[in-house]
Amino acid sequence: MQAFRIFALRFTADFICRTTKKRMNVFIILGTRPEAIKLAPVIHALKEHPHFTVTVCATGQHIQMMKQALGIFGIEPDIDLAIMKPGQDLFDITTNVLLALKPIFTESKPDIVLVQGDTTTTFAGALAAYYKQIPVGHVEAGLRTFRKYAPFPEEVNRILTGHIADIHFAPTQRSQQNLLQENVSQSTIHVTGNTAIDALHWILNKLNNLDSSTLRLAVQLPEQIFQLVNTTDKKVILVTGHRRENFGDGFEHICSALHQLSLRSDVEIIYPVHLNPNVREPVMRVLSQRENIHLLEPLDYASFAYLMNKSSFIITDSGGVQEEAPSLGKPVLCMRDVTERPEAIEAGTVLLVGTSQEKIVYEATKLLDDEAHYNSMAFAHNPYGDGKAAQRIRDLLIEFSSSSQQSLQELLQKFSASQAAPRNT
Ligand code: UD1
Ligand code: UDP
Repeated sequence: MQAFRIFALRFTADFICRTTKKRMNVFIILGTRPEAIKLAPVIHALKEHPHFTVTVCATGQHIQMMKQALGIFGIEPDIDLAIMKPGQDLFDITTNVLLALKPIFTESKPDIVLVQGDTTTTFAGALAAYYKQIPVGHVEAGLRTFRKYAPFPEEVNRILTGHIADIHFAPTQRSQQNLLQENVSQSTIHVTGNTAIDALHWILNKLNNLDSSTLRLAVQLPEQIFQLVNTTDKKVILVTGHRRENFGDGFEHICSALHQLSLRSDVEIIYPVHLNPNVREPVMRVLSQRENIHLLEPLDYASFAYLMNKSSFIITDSGGVQEEAPSLGKPVLCMRDVTERPEAIEAGTVLLVGTSQEKIVYEATKLLDDEAHYNSMAFAHNPYGDGKAAQRIRDLLIEFSSSSQQSLQELLQKFSASQAAPRNT
């Protein structure tokens, strides 16, 4: 049935392309590392199709981390709003994105603006488009924790973007259900899978096809780390963390837990540290002196994917990593109290541990010492799609552009009919 739907969608999209001459101007807004990774497959899919003219606009909410992420996919933004400043707050990001997009959308209106996910770039980008009455497409729509401050501010960013959007690309049935419960019109919601899986397939395919010397060049890990993960008989734990709601006490507890785990002689902890100063300060202070804790700069996506594959398990508060790790069969201890990605929890590869030192150490110890428990979490499965989400989004955009053109033509016909009709005075 699903295969038939895909075929029908592809057939309709092809037919529309052949009969419609006008190209669709798609304006893609992205600001942070995960948006870059998850929109890269969409940008590739649209750019290689003659129906689209694509403009990639980086807000610059992230500078280095976004460049690093886009670079791997060979994508260069057409516009860079360069809004980032050290220690920026939510007011800074929201207002600066809005102000920077105003003249761009005043000068020319794209046919549609695409945003992804739940960052403040996502929300402010959608809002700017709405203010100029430009249709908005939301990639990765409908995820919810139903807790206003967890994750903060992402839960509300995603809800608000969902209420602005005209077309919703929901990654799973559950995210579709969430939108339906909020009275979003069913005809505007499409279950596409998550483009994170497209990106993961793309990078793994690239890495798997390299011989060992080319692979070594492609994976830009420090030599010591590359050797370590390829030769050690210890267990490698990969760590990331950056959530705003974990700043302060949360990160203190996380660092204490990692410090405690590092007292074991059978583990190596590899932690590429996010550039946010609220993260770096406690991490450097508490963890930099431990010999078996390797603090790295943020890694490019190829190197990070390579490390995920080499790790025994992952401790993280990241959204994207919760989607990628199940595909790789890597257990995840998720340092959150609640998640908007319940699918992998239900399947058993992701476990919520919050930021309690005791709980993190307890669950990590179980994974290290109890083989049966480890095996029960370490199996490859993928609730987030088949790696074809970007193609579906492209085909749906072609359909969307044709229906917008039709309604525009109907509107124009109605208008000229009303002009031609005799007036009753
Ligand atoms: C942002 C998103 C979060 C997303 C995360 C992905 C918001 C509010 N937060 O959080 O949803 O999960 O990105 O990583 O949208 N910095 C740099 N260089 C960079 C990136 C960040 O120096 O390339 C530093 C800067 O000091 C910056 C700070 O990190 O001020 C915080 O960046 P910001 O985008 O505000 O928050 P993140 O924690 O990165
Ligand atoms: N990632 C990366 N380098 C790193 C850490 C993570 O490329 O050093 C990738 C990871 O594979 C995932 C994405 O970045 O695709 C997740 O980004 P992040 O955790 O910053 O944001 P979130 O997903 O929580 O919004």
